[in-house]
Amino acid sequence: MTAKAAFKDEIANHFPTTFMRRRHDGTADLNGRLHNYLLEQEKRERNKLVGTSNVGGYHSDTQLLSGKDEAIVELRQMIFDGILAYAGPLIDNECAAPPEETNLRLWGWCVIMREGDYNHQHMHPDANISGVYYVTMPKVMQKNTTGQPHGCISFVDPRPRANSMRLPNQHSAHAINPEAGDLVVFPSYYEHSVTPFKGPGVRICIAFNAKIV
Ligand SMILES: [Fe+2]
Repeated sequence: MTAKAAFKDEIANHFPTTFMRRRHDGTADLNGRLHNYLLEQEKRERNKLVGTSNVGGYHSDTQLLSGKDEAIVELRQMIFDGILAYAGPLIDNECAAPPEETNLRLWGWCVIMREGDYNHQHMHPDANISGVYYVTMPKVMQKNTTGQPHGCISFVDPRPRANSMRLPNQHSAHAINPEAGDLVVFPSYYEHSVTPFKGPGVRICIAFNAKIV
């Protein structure tokens, strides 16, 4: 009888996609101030929706985070802190060696959606790190915990050939049902979309890009 060869398995995940969801506590006051500021901005500033992946709703220009309003300054720091926490694991996962210098250029914009508005699948060109901070989420989303949540953000498998011969029940998307105060951060190439929600309320978020320069 032939002896079985000994073996040792090493299982690794090659090219994983680094994703962070940071849940903040105690942001009710900040979110309230951002909510009011952004709804005022919607009235004050022209809608820059045309040419974006959004269908319906309001899209500010991409200089929003350069604003002097106290709430925007506070949020900008929170986003910056989140990006810094995310950048370490991202660089560990993606790079052969860390960059000698890391200077970040950050820019962002707000998106205000109401019933029926949605966001086509897209990625963020010309950036390295992207993300979203959630200011206000309609109640209809908070109640929805199963199935396909309304108004969720959904990320698709970024591996171009992973869906050509699928395993049974293979994941093809990850849906996140965010809450106000959540910050999500992901690589800019990670394609995502936002499904419409039904019912009253407003969905307000601030999306951003960061580029290592
Ligand atoms: Fe996006």
